[in-house]
Amino acid sequence: MKYPKEYLDEIKTRLKVSTVVSKTVNLKKRGKEFIGLSPFKTEKTPSFTVNDDKEFYHCFATSEHGNIFDFIMKTQNLKFGEAVKTLANLAGMRPYTFSKQDVERENKWQEYCLIYNKYVDFYHNEILQNENLTLPRDYLKTRNLSKKDVKKFKIGFVEKNSNFFKKLENEFSKKVLIESGLFYLDEKKNIYIERFRNRIIFPINNISGQPIALGGRTIQENNYLAKYINSPETLFFKKGSNLYNLDLARKLSNKINYIYLVEGYMDVIGLNKNGIENVVANLGTSLTDRQILILNQFFDDVIICFDGDESGYKAALRAAENSIKELHPEKQISFLFLPDGEDPDSFVNKNGKVKFSDFTKQNKILIHQFLFNHYKNQTTNDPSSMAIFEKKLRSITATIKDDYIKKYVLEYFLEKISSLTPLSNIGKKNFYSKKVKSLDSTKKHFNESKSISGVEIKEFSLLYLMMKNLDLIKENIHLIENIKLFSNENKLIFEAILKKLKNSEKLTINDLALDPQIVEKIFKFASIKHILNNNQNNKNKIFELLEEICKDLKNYDLEFRIEQLESKFSKDLSETTFNEIRELKKQKNIN
Ligand code: CTP
Ligand code: MN
Repeated sequence: MKYPKEYLDEIKTRLKVSTVVSKTVNLKKRGKEFIGLSPFKTEKTPSFTVNDDKEFYHCFATSEHGNIFDFIMKTQNLKFGEAVKTLANLAGMRPYTFSKQDVERENKWQEYCLIYNKYVDFYHNEILQNENLTLPRDYLKTRNLSKKDVKKFKIGFVEKNSNFFKKLENEFSKKVLIESGLFYLDEKKNIYIERFRNRIIFPINNISGQPIALGGRTIQENNYLAKYINSPETLFFKKGSNLYNLDLARKLSNKINYIYLVEGYMDVIGLNKNGIENVVANLGTSLTDRQILILNQFFDDVIICFDGDESGYKAALRAAENSIKELHPEKQISFLFLPDGEDPDSFVNKNGKVKFSDFTKQNKILIHQFLFNHYKNQTTNDPSSMAIFEKKLRSITATIKDDYIKKYVLEYFLEKISSLTPLSNIGKKNFYSKKVKSLDSTKKHFNESKSISGVEIKEFSLLYLMMKNLDLIKENIHLIENIKLFSNENKLIFEAILKKLKNSEKLTINDLALDPQIVEKIFKFASIKHILNNNQNNKNKIFELLEEICKDLKNYDLEFRIEQLESKFSKDLSETTFNEIRELKKQKNIN
């Protein structure tokens, strides 16, 4: 049994090699490629490369080479069919089961593609070649669309009295033609009508570039016809799952890590004309989780830029409340609000690419900031209004799926709220940059698996300094008495030394009677060794070094406790835990 080529292609289109590989191999970007340690061999220097443009991986150590299917088959020891299932699932696609329904669906899909290709090509050629079509051609000119733009987006025009149905009727059944959504039956007159007659048409392609639906704009605006219409939902066109121009924009994702999400066809085309090609449109429907997930598969930052009017703002708010649920570490959703009355198309045509990009840099705000600002603007300072405000923000937070994001967003909201209340004396200015920092540190925490060696090295340094300066430490024992060590072995030595220092008059290193192996380890790893040896008689320097080590160890302890509380907080979301975290964080900053 063979999978249809289109099905396999769609999986490949939806999943970058780096996305698949990075689930199991830690990849670092290097130029156009990614590199990492080979999953086929134990090695210390990376010899495994991934190239998203060329859609393959290559291991220089073992000469293993292949696409995403090969990778899954080899690393997970799966058969081809199982690899397809795994990857289709990862790509968010329906499984292909080889049932009778699947085969029928496949046949229908082939017909559907043929119909759409013929239709789109025909009307595209008409507008390019038929000089009698003065009205739509003039219209395109007034919109400043060149031949190049028309070709790039395969724009067409369906004449008023045209009837392509007749031409297709010879090849396809009436039922299939109706199911395509391009035609409908006028029951009174018993004739088949072109749904898009007298409209400029914009093909909506699936992710692989196959037209699956159309948008149509009237060229003579009036009150009784909708300015735009779209194809109805069909077997192969589901509104919340597609995005206009995704097929072209996703190809840029190896070079650019953000994407604009706009409302309309003309916004996409206007930005493209001005050299901004990383843009898709959701076509006037409300944004779905699925659309965000698709975009996040390719881009790290989704910048939602709707029209600068009331309906654009409302749509943005709905989009924010909907999509914050899907926010993941490593990904961002931002909002860009245009000046009143502008949409991306009008704004970029007036100002050009550079100003549009500058405007983006200066004005885009992150999703949680937007939500906070929005609800704050509806709040007065009285307790009940504040209570509603806080409840609203908490309920938004509760919808977030990722526990870490949930925790930090709530923390952001609560900090911001507490900075609004009169009793608070929390620094209000640099709050945002501080938060970004803490988000970064969670990210780090995700990436590097936590290793204790940093703390241990500090502990070795402390022990080394103590052993080398027994007299000095004895006189100043209060400086180290409250220090907490993490490693049990070090803790025991530390306590043993302390005890001896307290109990005896004069001590040498030999009196400590320590296990020579441990002493050797301490001497080997204490990073402070050289600097200390160079300052043997410099008391001030020694105190300075001691103070630094103690401060670092105290911070490790605070960090450790903060981490424990944060993990508690992500589960209980309790105010007390939150306040404890804040208290510890304050201490850590003072340190
Ligand atoms: N839309 C729709 N039905 C309408 C109006 C709009 O489906 N009656 C969708 C279309 O996909 C359109 C998008 O919403 O592209 C944005 O609408 P609008 O801002 O009105 O269109 P513009 O892109 O500004 O179009 P134009 O510049 O052609 O007026
Ligand atoms: Mn608009």
